[in-house]
Amino acid sequence: MERENWTSRLGFILAASGSAIGLGNIWRFPFVTGTNGGAIFILIYLAAITLLGYPILVSEMSLGRTTAKNPIGAFKKIAPNTGWPLVGALGVLSGFVILSYYSVVAGWGMSYIFKSLTFTANNNFPQLFEQHIGSLVQPIFWHGVFMLLTVVVIGAGIVNGIQKLVKYLMPILFIIIILLIFRSLTLNGAARGLSFYLKPDFSEITLQTFADAISQAFFTLSLGMGAMITYGSYLNKKESITESAVYVIIFDTLVALLAGFAIFPAVFSFGFDPASGPGLTFITLPAVFTKMPFGNFFSLIFFVLLTIAALTSSISMLEVVVAFLVDEYSWSRKKASYLVGLLIFLVGIPPLLGYSKLATINFLGMNLLDSYDWITNTIFLPAGGILTAIFVGHIWGSKQAAIEANQNSRLKIGLIYEILLKYIVPLAVLAIMLISIWKTLS
Ligand code: PFF
Ligand code: NA
Repeated sequence: MERENWTSRLGFILAASGSAIGLGNIWRFPFVTGTNGGAIFILIYLAAITLLGYPILVSEMSLGRTTAKNPIGAFKKIAPNTGWPLVGALGVLSGFVILSYYSVVAGWGMSYIFKSLTFTANNNFPQLFEQHIGSLVQPIFWHGVFMLLTVVVIGAGIVNGIQKLVKYLMPILFIIIILLIFRSLTLNGAARGLSFYLKPDFSEITLQTFADAISQAFFTLSLGMGAMITYGSYLNKKESITESAVYVIIFDTLVALLAGFAIFPAVFSFGFDPASGPGLTFITLPAVFTKMPFGNFFSLIFFVLLTIAALTSSISMLEVVVAFLVDEYSWSRKKASYLVGLLIFLVGIPPLLGYSKLATINFLGMNLLDSYDWITNTIFLPAGGILTAIFVGHIWGSKQAAIEANQNSRLKIGLIYEILLKYIVPLAVLAIMLISIWKTLS
């Protein structure tokens, strides 16, 4: 059977950007920037995106298109009867675990859609957030609703349909973020936030800064778990991979940086703690909305759009797991998505309860949600990225990959790409990953 293709280059860029742009940009990027001292983190993050992220993104897309297979099938096709398909299996596992807590956070966002209607300047937003995540019924309910949405889209095979929505909705999200930035920058005391965000303090650099920048680069670009292999497998030969990847990176980085501009000036103006962790976005943006005309309305629209952005990412994670079961075990799409979705929902319950019933459980000094995040983003994704780089660079061959990526491209990659992919990416990511593991364990 002819494999279904994205109908155009734009379709592919939208889908890949849809996977990339999500909670990683608006929720994770600001809080990781905040805990790592601000501007200095951003510098290292931008370096990680360009030097490590771009080569891996191009490699994953090329591997997918060349084989037209799911991540496990892709490795199998190029290296049959070897252990390499296990890299694809690691990706399936990553997708499974990341989605389980991603959906919990998306659920927080969904419940904020309705809370938006009641926000007033008198709210204590840090407290409101604590209360919300510490409760049971609402977080579980919305986590379930979000998983259900993801499952329905994947089960019905209407990913393409959803991606079409992105074309109209993302510009609106963009406009609301610009409005937020405008308001945030004109608050009293915004300048301190701006300087935190833009003036690097080199004394804040630690190895942790590098580790967090690399994790964030993988997470935000959906790398290291085969999502971009899967999306590449549906890409037409006529389209340029090298150029598409540039667009995806530019859009993704833009949204993250803009989110920071909306958040940090306000954090300092309201006297919140920039290093407060996963609550940062949920605490800061509602407070900014209360200072805007029609704030409740904008807040509602914002959280709706955040949910949709999260959905276009979550479907790419579930697709990795489902495509594998459909291709390799001939499961039906429906059966695979509903069953896997249910399991992922259940696996997401412990990190959800980590803020209430299971708050006493500590893993390496972290609560459960932070541990899920740490294991996937500090170990699974970088490990997947290293192995993919070695595989594409040395087994399939970086020359082959460059030929695939350069097809119908005006932007040609060559020697620099090959060197980065074969040597720099594996060594740099491995070094940082090992140091980070060692530091966390000791
Ligand atoms: N890139 C997504 C984000 O920034 O929200 C998260 C993500 C999606 C990670 C898909 C991994 C993945 F395969
Ligand atoms: Na992202």
